[in-house]
Amino acid sequence: MRQSSKISKLTGLRAGFALFSIFALIGISGAAIAADAAPMAPAAEAKAAAPAKPKIDPAVGESLYSNGDASRGVTACITCHGPKGQSAVSSWPKLSAQHAAYTAKQLKNFKEGTRANPIMMGMSAALTEQDMQNISAYLSKQPISQGVAQNKETIALGQSIYRGGIAAKGVPACAACHSPTGAGIPAQYPLLGGQWADYTNAQLLAFREGVRKNSSQMTAIATKLSDQEMKSVADYIAGLH
Ligand code: HEC
Ligand code: HEC
Repeated sequence: MRQSSKISKLTGLRAGFALFSIFALIGISGAAIAADAAPMAPAAEAKAAAPAKPKIDPAVGESLYSNGDASRGVTACITCHGPKGQSAVSSWPKLSAQHAAYTAKQLKNFKEGTRANPIMMGMSAALTEQDMQNISAYLSKQPISQGVAQNKETIALGQSIYRGGIAAKGVPACAACHSPTGAGIPAQYPLLGGQWADYTNAQLLAFREGVRKNSSQMTAIATKLSDQEMKSVADYIAGLH
């Protein structure tokens, strides 16, 4: 009688210990998950102690843009986008003078994948939000690079779409948002003027085909444009300033 109650007490203890161990394990893995999900927690605490937010620093952005950071796997942007963001190759967009809020949004969108481009998804993966803001601030201060329209035959069509839209198809004038000079409006509409026509055309296609899903406004517009209309307006935009 006594013996058996001792044994049952012992097994009870063992079971209790086993249960405890399971809870301890769950507790530990729970903590690990929480740490993964909220890597900002310590930073948030530090912020509470010192309210100063990290400042946006264009000089730090310039260094990252021009040199990259091998220790973090950040490739130098200058390799493709050129000195001061003035790319010399039509498949690599010019980034100079672009509004900082727009550039930062694009880098975030590449990283999240709402703007699907294999090269830039890789490039943005190593960037923190602070890096994105620093680089965007640096680029926004660089002089605008101008281009020229190449195709005389399509300039009239390109200009009429840019300035007046296509009423019959419900396409609004590009100028209504991107401004008559193509300079856009800071924090709302990107600068387009002077951009490589090949790149602009590729973006209109990407919006239409759903590869670039980061603007419902632009998807709605691009869906209504034919290949010929895209090419014409893209070429006109290259010479716009
Ligand atoms: C290997 C070449 C290459 C490198 C290096 C590169 N990019 Fe790009 N970048 C591209 C290409 C190609 C595109 C066009 C992507 C598309 O079609 O959506 C692009 C697009 C962009 C855009 C979008 C421009 C716009 O007008 O919407 C931004 C912003 C950008 N890159 C920033 C960067 C930054 C910042 C770095 C460095 C961390 C970088 N890129 C490094 C090739 C490169
Ligand atoms: C209702 C406002 C609006 C109108 C009208 C409009 N756009 Fe846009 N456009 C935007 C916004 C907003 C963005 C930025 C999208 C994003 O955040 O990625 C944009 C982005 C773009 C881009 C991408 C720029 C880059 O550097 O990658 C191109 C190209 C473009 N628009 C061309 C056009 C053309 C061509 C027209 C006229 C047929 C037009 N847009 C009319 C609002 C507009």
